[in-house]
Amino acid sequence: TEHGTIYEAIGGAETINKLVTAFYTRVGRHPSLTPIFPDDLTETARKQELFLTQFFGGPRLYEEERGHPMMRRRHLPFPITPERRDAWLACMEEALIEAGIEDPYRSAIFERLTMTANHMMNTPE
Ligand code: HEM
Repeated sequence: TEHGTIYEAIGGAETINKLVTAFYTRVGRHPSLTPIFPDDLTETARKQELFLTQFFGGPRLYEEERGHPMMRRRHLPFPITPERRDAWLACMEEALIEAGIEDPYRSAIFERLTMTANHMMNTPE
């Protein structure tokens, strides 16, 4: 259920949509990220919205459409260096603020995303 989750506490689907929009606007301008992302981020953002919905404890939309997340495996085609990890997290840190997500949720979310981002690295600098 969605009760007592981060998903619910931050304002559900509407907040996640704002977060994802703010995030990919930054990704699309970040010089270390643009080389590995598609030019059109519409579909990427749509999938991320499904993923973050379930990651924050909301409906399991990503799994319904895409199956098991296997996030590290899905990222193996892209060289993810420590620099790109830092860039991804920097975009996310700003997006969390732009989306109006406040502490303690902002810190809790950022901590979880940092752990996941660390797990996604697959290439040395
Ligand atoms: C997809 C990069 C971390 C969730 C992608 C794609 C790239 C990428 C290049 C493919 C985009 C496309 O072809 O549409 C990165 C980089 C990261 C990172 C550089 C830095 C550490 C993360 C983290 C999460 C995440 C921490 C989750 C919390 C996703 C999702 C997709 C995706 C859900 C779509 C997967 C699908 O096709 O179903 N990422 N990513 N990524 N990433 Fe990341």
